[in-house]
Amino acid sequence: MKRRDFIKTSALLAAAAGAGEWLNAAPLPSTAEGPEAEAVPDPWQSEEPVDGRLIVSAPMLQNFSATSMGVAFAVSALANGYVLIGERPDLSDVRKVLCGGYRVTDIDDRVARVRLIGLKPSTTYYYRIGADRISYEGGYRMQVIGNDEDLRIYSFTTAGKDTPAHFCVINDTHARWEPFGRAVEKIAELSPACVIWNGDASNVEETVEAQTRIFLTPAIDRKDYAAETPYLFCPGNHDNRGMANRHLERVWMFRQPEERQSRDWDLGRNFAVRLGDMALVGLDTAEDKLDTNPKFAGLFTSGPYREAQTEWLRDALSREEIRTAPFLVAFCHIPLFDSNPRHNPGDVAPADSDPQYSTDYALWQRTCARLWTPILEEAGCQLVITAHQHRYRYDAPTTDRPWAQIVGGGPEMGFTGSGDKRRENPDKFPTVIEGTVRAGRLEITVHNLLSGNVQDRFSFSPRPSPFFAATDAID
Ligand SMILES: [Fe+2]
Ligand SMILES: [Fe+2]
Repeated sequence: MKRRDFIKTSALLAAAAGAGEWLNAAPLPSTAEGPEAEAVPDPWQSEEPVDGRLIVSAPMLQNFSATSMGVAFAVSALANGYVLIGERPDLSDVRKVLCGGYRVTDIDDRVARVRLIGLKPSTTYYYRIGADRISYEGGYRMQVIGNDEDLRIYSFTTAGKDTPAHFCVINDTHARWEPFGRAVEKIAELSPACVIWNGDASNVEETVEAQTRIFLTPAIDRKDYAAETPYLFCPGNHDNRGMANRHLERVWMFRQPEERQSRDWDLGRNFAVRLGDMALVGLDTAEDKLDTNPKFAGLFTSGPYREAQTEWLRDALSREEIRTAPFLVAFCHIPLFDSNPRHNPGDVAPADSDPQYSTDYALWQRTCARLWTPILEEAGCQLVITAHQHRYRYDAPTTDRPWAQIVGGGPEMGFTGSGDKRRENPDKFPTVIEGTVRAGRLEITVHNLLSGNVQDRFSFSPRPSPFFAATDAID
């Protein structure tokens, strides 16, 4: 169905659903019904937002789990965003969830972030997005001065044992729209249960507007790329760069505190989710330079962050739905292994510089490997999927290292360098790494987005049982 037709159909469905709070909203020009509706541009397919709209992007599903989902969308003015959600396709059982957590809503003039909690595992929900336009003049002088709703009804499915064991991974998109657009089209074709964005979505982002452009209003054809496919995020080193990226959670939301034990509140994007026979675990390798590097002026704390994730990881792997999954795949941005002796392992104190290495920043992360891989090995992890090096690679398991590693390709489309130094290089291609379970095996397919062909296929047997000691750890 064409998207414009879908909007009209959704509007009819909504009208048939009966009078609810959300149906009282004044219709907006961009979604008006009637003979002229065909002439109205679809706002998400326009390069520029339709004039007058408060909601200026499609929703993006962020940071999902078995019992929660995040919905983020861009707004053009101060807004109180909300999600209308139900289990019936016509939303006749709708409930309204406001942005933010307890006490006050999270009104914002750029991004609405709504966290849906208390959901059921492996369950399909239907939803719409809306926002009240707010006039705030200080103190109690505040009022609703308008409303905008996206009439389309979207859907998503939460994680869980009955959710299809099917994921895709993208990485190092670096706000380059051609490779990102190709990745999104490949993902639409494959239709996975979720996508893991494995870091370096950013370059150096100083403003929330720039971050919004990357995640919510990218310059690609498929504007609603994440409206029905949930995304998980393992930040890369570039996702820490720039003043705005110090708080990327303003655009790419954290889990809410009530979803996690207090120790892990600040680990808002780490994930351990079950998809059918797979458990997926996401870690953040943080910066590619040491906290002591003078370039960082003492403004980074990657060291204690990695250690905190170690505690989280051990507990996450012992959770019942994670420990009982036959397949365990871990994700992080910077590789946890590298056989090249010239590649900087990220622990050269104090300033990352040593002539034996080809770079003065980490190409792989020995500190994270030492903290995390013994735990992953104890749990029988079969595969670690990483990124960062901008060159696709497969490291087969060995007797010393029982897990395989895949390094995803970068954004370069068959070339390296720029200007006079630009050279053809067919080894430089972006990838979508697809994982699924077929006939009791974990099947990995690496899609080459430059050639359009399958680059590699790998197959893994289930991990030995029992996988990990049981505890009463919670998410
Ligand atoms: Fe990168
Ligand atoms: Fe990176």
